[in-house]
Amino acid sequence: MTRESWATRLGFILAAVGSAVGLGNLWRFPWMTAENGGSAFLVVYLAIILLIGVPGLLAEFVIGRRSQRNPAGALYRLSDGSKSWGAVGLFGVVTGVVLLSFYSVVGGWILRYFLASFTGSYFGSAGPYFEAIGFGLPAVGFHVAFLALTALVVVGGVRDGIETATRVMMPAIVVLLLALAGWAVTRPGAGAGLAFYLEFDAAYLRANVLDVVGAAAGQALFTLSLGVGTMITYASYLGDDHNLAFDGSAIAMLNTGVGVLAGLVVFPLLFATVGELTGPAAQGGGPGALFVSLAGAFSQVPFGRVLAVLFFGVVALAALSSSISMLEIPVAYLVDEHGFERRTATGALAGLVLFTGSANALAPGLFTFVSGPLVDLMLTAGLTGFLLFAGWVLGPDALAEFSTGAGRRVRSVGPAWLWSVRTVLPLFLLATLLANLLALAGVTLWS
Ligand code: PFF
Repeated sequence: MTRESWATRLGFILAAVGSAVGLGNLWRFPWMTAENGGSAFLVVYLAIILLIGVPGLLAEFVIGRRSQRNPAGALYRLSDGSKSWGAVGLFGVVTGVVLLSFYSVVGGWILRYFLASFTGSYFGSAGPYFEAIGFGLPAVGFHVAFLALTALVVVGGVRDGIETATRVMMPAIVVLLLALAGWAVTRPGAGAGLAFYLEFDAAYLRANVLDVVGAAAGQALFTLSLGVGTMITYASYLGDDHNLAFDGSAIAMLNTGVGVLAGLVVFPLLFATVGELTGPAAQGGGPGALFVSLAGAFSQVPFGRVLAVLFFGVVALAALSSSISMLEIPVAYLVDEHGFERRTATGALAGLVLFTGSANALAPGLFTFVSGPLVDLMLTAGLTGFLLFAGWVLGPDALAEFSTGAGRRVRSVGPAWLWSVRTVLPLFLLATLLANLLALAGVTLWS
């Protein structure tokens, strides 16, 4: 059986952007930004995307296209059968399952808010509503529904499932977000939100530089879907005619654009209704902050129901195009390495996540740990492994793969890229990893 591949170049780019754009942009990004000084966070985050994110993305692309495999098979084969490198790849496969186990719970909340927006049933009681549905049996039910939708697309395969779905979803997301942002920034009181978001606050950054950099780095990896092997897997369905550097830059730019656009919807709405960032949104407020604040906003504005349906519809599409990329990693692993039928692999893994996700939906403490520190750690560790592999094991082969399909100008930056993948990037990530581990152990280096 020949391996599947993307039907079109745009199809690959849209699928990768679909993976990148998701709850990370619409739920985690505004939350992190609010918690870390608004504009100060935004600037650092953009710098990290450019300096760490884009070269890291290219490293995953290089591994994926060179091997035409899932992450575990890719590292195993390209290292001529090293079990240790295979294990590094397998770590990514496991991370995919861990991610989906919490992501699907949030996806379930979104589905529920989307449906409830038609009647506006939560409008009068934003806080209590989230408390009632956030965890426990109601959350399990919607998690299962979201997971089923995810599995349905993945069963369809790369071309008919993922490519077709994301081709429709991505343009819809951009159009809806543009319309919502245009409306939100013209609300009375929106100016304060825009100022918080866009006016650079150097004093805040000076006072909190380490916290801001740590949070921005974690967010940058999460939003670009790095450190799991998603981008390895998606690039494994690519042919040699693609210019990886061009595609990678386009993907990072589109993803960042959607994230910034989401901020233009969320902050003006929050400030226009709440006045200032106080209450749950200001303190990060846990996973429900965005839902509670936005639900409050929608209940107070004209056409609130229509806007809520549109907003949660967009978020649901974005979440789905990301969750399919999480499930695709372990599915590709079972198909490539263990000869499973795609349908059987998808069913088995969905069955597993049904349980692990339900555990998250039933235990808020577990959910908070998994979706925050555990994911940050796993992504940082995973990407460090992929970078060291591309830089030191593939080495010149990585450079050759980077140059395949690229023009002269892109090829000329290849050596600088390889150098950064070998040195600066892993060092930066290792430092972040250490800081995260110490923070988790309760050690404070600075205060
Ligand atoms: N990038 C996705 C988001 O921002 O929602 C999350 C994600 C998807 C992370 C796939 C990792 C991944 F492998």
